[in-house]
Amino acid sequence: MKKGNKNNILRAAKNAKKDEFYTQLSDIENELKHYKNYFNNKIVLCNCDNPNVSNFSRYFVDNFDKLKLKKIISIGLKNIGSSNFFVYDRDKYNNSAISFEQIEMKQLNGDGDFRSEESIHFLKEADIVVTNPPFSLFREYV
Ligand SMILES: C[S@@+](CC[C@H](N)C(=O)[O-])C[C@H]1O[C@@H](n2cnc3c(N)ncnc32)[C@H](O)[C@@H]1O
Repeated sequence: MKKGNKNNILRAAKNAKKDEFYTQLSDIENELKHYKNYFNNKIVLCNCDNPNVSNFSRYFVDNFDKLKLKKIISIGLKNIGSSNFFVYDRDKYNNSAISFEQIEMKQLNGDGDFRSEESIHFLKEADIVVTNPPFSLFREYV
């Protein structure tokens, strides 16, 4: 194998590994505490955010009242299991607070890619996008 090809493969592997790096809850808390006043009555989208695992999703559900959020939408990519998503707002849960574990996960029709029609549909509905995106697609994502 040529040296250039090998370097490309190693770089791709490194990027793929970085793409599945999950942000720690303590880092999310430390960062988002600076933006608390921006979330009032807002719809937050986490569109690169395996909803079963992501601490961003957990953070927003657990702090729904404190941040005075209107709605949270969290979407996951199919390549790490299923393309799960959830939408959380008080109307759907009889206006009562619930824990993250009680959130009802649903399946997307597509693969959950942030460029997909379903994901863009949620993007149009959202006021704020919060996530830690895949590093390998950072430019395209932004
Ligand atoms: C750096 S991880 C961060 C995960 C989560 N946002 C967090 O901070 O804990 C990036 C996530 O984006 C997902 N991802 C990769 N490519 C994607 C794409 N094209 N569309 C949507 N999500 C993607 C990966 O599966 C991974 O879960």
